[in-house]
Amino acid sequence: MKEDYMNPAEEIVLCTGPDVRVQIGSLALRNPVMTASGTFGYAREFENLVDLERLGAIVVKGISLQPKPGNPPPRVVETACGMLNAIGLENVGVDRFIAGKMKYLRSLTTPVVVNILGDSVEEYGEIARRLDGVEGVAALEVNISCPNVKKGGVAFGTMPEMAARVTEAVREASGLPLIVKLSPNVTDIVLMAKAVEEAGADAVSLINTLIGMAIDPMSRKPRLANVIGGLSGPAIKPVALRMVWQVAQAVALPVIGIGGITTADDAVEFMLAGASAIQVGTANFYDPSAAENIVQGITGYLQQQGEDRLVDIIGTLKTGMA
Ligand SMILES: Cc1cc2nc3c(=O)[nH]c(=O)nc-3n(C[C@H](O)[C@H](O)[C@H](O)COP(=O)(O)O)c2cc1C
Repeated sequence: MKEDYMNPAEEIVLCTGPDVRVQIGSLALRNPVMTASGTFGYAREFENLVDLERLGAIVVKGISLQPKPGNPPPRVVETACGMLNAIGLENVGVDRFIAGKMKYLRSLTTPVVVNILGDSVEEYGEIARRLDGVEGVAALEVNISCPNVKKGGVAFGTMPEMAARVTEAVREASGLPLIVKLSPNVTDIVLMAKAVEEAGADAVSLINTLIGMAIDPMSRKPRLANVIGGLSGPAIKPVALRMVWQVAQAVALPVIGIGGITTADDAVEFMLAGASAIQVGTANFYDPSAAENIVQGITGYLQQQGEDRLVDIIGTLKTGMA
């Protein structure tokens, strides 16, 4: 046998079924299934429930410059086919994250994406600078659904110029692959995607939660102490799918689909609409094995469709009537 006949990695792919590897810019993933920020802690919380080595990537809880205590309870409430949360971005802050959480995370072979958030453009840049070069950080995901304190609390992700400034600041501060996570609370999602593409993003992920509220009619009080919160879960899937489809057609960047993904069919729908990878969020709370099952289910779908490579189905939605 010739020595260069086949390398072991290729052999494994051929023996175990379709090739489900995907690429998000320079970030290579063994499969497209990632866990969504804020729904999977810092991963260790799930180590006894999920085989973390089978995931495509892990996105950790959003990290700010200083630790944040979050909002007072009640902070979550169940809604029809979903949930509202107003956690208030509680987290340990970037320095404690690096010192206390990265040791475990870098012991995994699964790429770790760090989700970051700031109160100002400068703060985003500073967090990115501190994470740049930290061993085990595979990419940054920038949450722009946060209020710009210097601009009266308007969310960065609702104005193209502000989203672009944040993207530029992070780009300048770090050489890590840069994923910008878009907010759905806008009139034109394509405008936002184009703004961050021009500003230097390597990929976009969408969607973050939709702003909503819930009221208890007996007490006549809001069900969340914060009054309003972010809606997530299957209830938002059609909105997310529509936005992913629109963005995937409008930008050249890889798109990561998020919103109500619970099953392999959900994941496949997002990929047909143009997503190169997907994230599982709220489903982790009621079915921690959802992400692992989706990996398995995607392979089953490809086999059933006679497809050898997952990348070949990305963006293959048939919109004609024929
Ligand atoms: C409890 C909770 C906390 C979240 N925290 C964050 C966060 O820190 N950063 C972020 O970018 N998104 C956060 N999200 C948004 C999710 O990552 C995801 O974009 C959203 O929930 C939609 O996906 P899903 O319907 O699969 O949950 C959070 C969502 C939930 C439910």
